Parts: sequence; structure tokens; C-alpha cells
Amino acid sequence: MPGSGDRGAAWARWLGTGLLGLFLLPVSLSLEVSVGKATTIYAVNGTEILLPCTFSSCFGFYDLHFWWTYNNSDTSRTILDGIVKNEKSDPKVKFKDDERISLEGSIKEKVNNISILLRNVDFSDTGKYTCFVKNPKENHAGHNATIFLQVVDKLEEVDNTVTLIILAVVGGVIGLLIFIMLVKKFIAFVLKKTQEKKKECLVSSSGNDNTENGLPGSKAEEKPPTKV
Ligand SMILES: *[C@@H]1O[C@H](CO)[C@@H](O)[C@H](O)[C@H]1NC(C)=O
Ligand SMILES: *[C@@H]1O[C@H](CO)[C@@H](O)[C@H](O)[C@H]1NC(C)=O
Ligand SMILES: *[C@@H]1O[C@H](CO)[C@@H](O)[C@H](O)[C@H]1NC(C)=O
Ligand SMILES: *[C@@H]1O[C@H](CO)[C@@H](O)[C@H](O)[C@H]1NC(C)=O
Repeated sequence: MPGSGDRGAAWARWLGTGLLGLFLLPVSLSLEVSVGKATTIYAVNGTEILLPCTFSSCFGFYDLHFWWTYNNSDTSRTILDGIVKNEKSDPKVKFKDDERISLEGSIKEKVNNISILLRNVDFSDTGKYTCFVKNPKENHAGHNATIFLQVVDKLEEVDNTVTLIILAVVGGVIGLLIFIMLVKKFIAFVLKKTQEKKKECLVSSSGNDNTENGLPGSKAEEKPPTKV
């Protein structure tokens, strides 16, 4: 009866979702904004870089306001600003302060993507990029997530670190294998020596036994007496 099993599973899922929903209720009422796992991204000067940002809202939204700010030690400004009419429409840019910036995100399959692309990055673009999302239904300040952009000459620094780590790990593993092999060889050597010693003892004692028995002598005595 596959039907009853399925229904059981559906029930369990429903119950699970319900309980989880109750548990998460205070959180999911509000928006959640994320820039992903990395808190710092590196870009080479002259190239382009995607500054990621997504948001989620369990209860839907309309006329949602979003914007990006740029922050470094001596300036703080809004670099892009826009709205998302509803869950079925793509985000629309209302303002941006730099031609090199473009909105790359889209609203589809529950992924509300408001990432921006920064072209021809310069060393002066290094700084904090924060994306904000504000649901008009909520009164308090926008939810936000920040990513740090570091513009570098070459990505070698990062590569070197990774390479060094890999080399260190590989070297460590090889070293360990060699060490284990040496230890094994040494133990085998010691065991062999010990066994050889034992064998030697056995051989010599048996030899002693032979001489002590004086077998050859007795044999000679056993020689049949010469007939006269
Ligand atoms: C990046 O900056 C370095 C140092 O200023 C410069 O030599 C190089 O040409 C730049 N690269 C690009 C792609 O602009
Ligand atoms: C940007 O910098 C200003 C002044 O340093 C600070 O008050 C503000 O909180 C910063 N904003 C972000 C998003 O870091
Ligand atoms: C957001 O959109 C950009 C550009 O299309 C894409 O590269 C990125 O992977 C998207 N992010 C997510 C989380 O889907
Ligand atoms: C950004 O969000 C944090 C909580 O995640 C909040 O404490 C902070 O005040 C927000 N920043 C701004 C400028 O709204």
C-alpha cells in the first residue's frame, strides 16, 4: 500500500513544517538579506566583479525598496537604488551613481537576486559594499548585508596561500608516509635481527647437543668388530 506511506510522510512533513514555522515565526516575519558565505572578495584592477546579494521573505512583498551603499574610511554614499514591484517582476533601478555599475539580479524561483556588477574596478573601489532591503510593510530600518571588496594587483597572494597550504599538506602526508615506512622498516629489521639471533641460538645449541652427544664417537664405537 504505497498510498498510506505517502500520506504518512506528507503528514510528518506538514507537521514538521508547521512546527518549524512556529519556531521561526519571529524571524521569518521580517526580511532576510544575504551576501553569501564569503565576507571578503578579491578583484584584480581592470577586471569586473559581481557583488552578490539576495533576500528572502516568507510572506511576500510589494514595492520593496532596495539600495547599495559604498563605505570606506573617508566616504559613505549610495551607489544604486531601486524597487521591486512584486514577486513576479524584476528589480528596477531608479538611480546609480556610476556607469560602471549594473544590476545583475532577477526575481525568480524564490531567489530574489539583487546582485550588482562593478566593471573596470580600480584600487579606489576597495571598501565595504552593503545591500539594503526595506519592505514598506515594515517600519524599522532596512535589513542589510555587507561584503568587503579588496582590489588587488594580482590574485597571486591568494593563490600562493592556497598553494602553500596544499604543498604543506601534501608534504606533510608524504613525510608521514615516509616516516611510517621507515618505522615499519626499522621494526621489520629489529624483528628480523631478533629472530636471527634466536635462530642462531637454536642452531648453535643443537650443534652443541650434537657434539655433547658425541654421536660420531659412538658411531665409531658401533663399528662392527674386525673379524680375525
Ligand atoms: C593594475 O595595476 C597595476 C599597477 O598599478 C598596473 O601595472 C596594471 O596595468 C593594472 N592592470 C589593469 C588591467 O589595469
Ligand atoms: C559607513 O561609514 C559611516 C562613517 O564611517 C558609518 O557611520 C556607517 O555606519 C557606515 N555604514 C556601513 C554600512 O558600514
Ligand atoms: C544572482 O545573479 C547573478 C547574475 O545573473 C548570478 O551570477 C548569481 O549566481 C546569482 N546569485 C544567486 C544566489 O542566484
Ligand atoms: C544592518 O543590520 C544590522 C543587523 O543585521 C543592524 O544592527 C544595523 O543597524 C543595520 N545597519 C543599518 C545601517 O541599518
